[in-house]
Amino acid sequence: MTNPYELSERAANELREMTGIGAYDLAIVLGSGWREGAAALGVPSSEILASSLSGFVAPTVAGHNGQLLSVRVGEKNVLLVAGRVHLYEGNTADQVVHPVRTAIAAGAQIVVLTNAAGGIDPAKGPGQVVVLRDQINLTATSPLEGAPPPAPYGPRFVDLTDLYSKRLRALVREALPDLSEGVYAGFRGPNYETPAEVAMARTMGATLVGMSTVLEAIAARHLGAEVLGLSLVSNFAAGVAAGALNHLEVLEAGENAASSLGALLTQLVPVL
Ligand code: HPA
Repeated sequence: MTNPYELSERAANELREMTGIGAYDLAIVLGSGWREGAAALGVPSSEILASSLSGFVAPTVAGHNGQLLSVRVGEKNVLLVAGRVHLYEGNTADQVVHPVRTAIAAGAQIVVLTNAAGGIDPAKGPGQVVVLRDQINLTATSPLEGAPPPAPYGPRFVDLTDLYSKRLRALVREALPDLSEGVYAGFRGPNYETPAEVAMARTMGATLVGMSTVLEAIAARHLGAEVLGLSLVSNFAAGVAAGALNHLEVLEAGENAASSLGALLTQLVPVL
């Protein structure tokens, strides 16, 4: 069997052939709500069905084909990954991070991971965007599990001290001083957390809970890319506010935020 690194090199070559873009500068993985917002970045020069490239698995979310969109923003070639896949869909950690590995193999040295998350901080309610300062991986897996990465890829014992790039966070602070920072706890899902689990995450230092991002961040860092994480708070996490969580409300929060997320990305991408 081909190793996941070779598989991402192969997919990157296919992507180059299909798009005619030799190297990307930046990749943005689009979480719920962010996909609609990212349309504000411009008209894509190509839209590729992700499952037509080696190693990509199709999302199981209804109505969401995985797509890779190429957009030129100023001087930058930006790859938009729409339709991320998750562990809770039955995918392996390697499958979950394959789009990120492919984007990096296609040149992207900056990876922006976006998501919708449950907010633990009562002061940061639905509609707010939080910049990730750090993460807690509660998925009990890692994309670096298994056989050691082949040469020339770095060793699996990768340092995550600066998982979310200080340099990129400083650029965000300059461009968008109103955004605050937080810590994202990544659960496996797909059920939402119990109030006790949210309380645990809070005690551990988390301010956000979600079901994506943490494995992609580790894989990107392992490959030497700089990582930026952006969470849209789509709801208060279980037990933080009165009442039950509702998936439709979570999706709606994303849709309602689309235009402000678009404005945010339009401001941010040129300075990264
Ligand atoms: N928990 C986990 N994942 C989520 C949430 C949540 O409350 N909201 C959006 N994604």
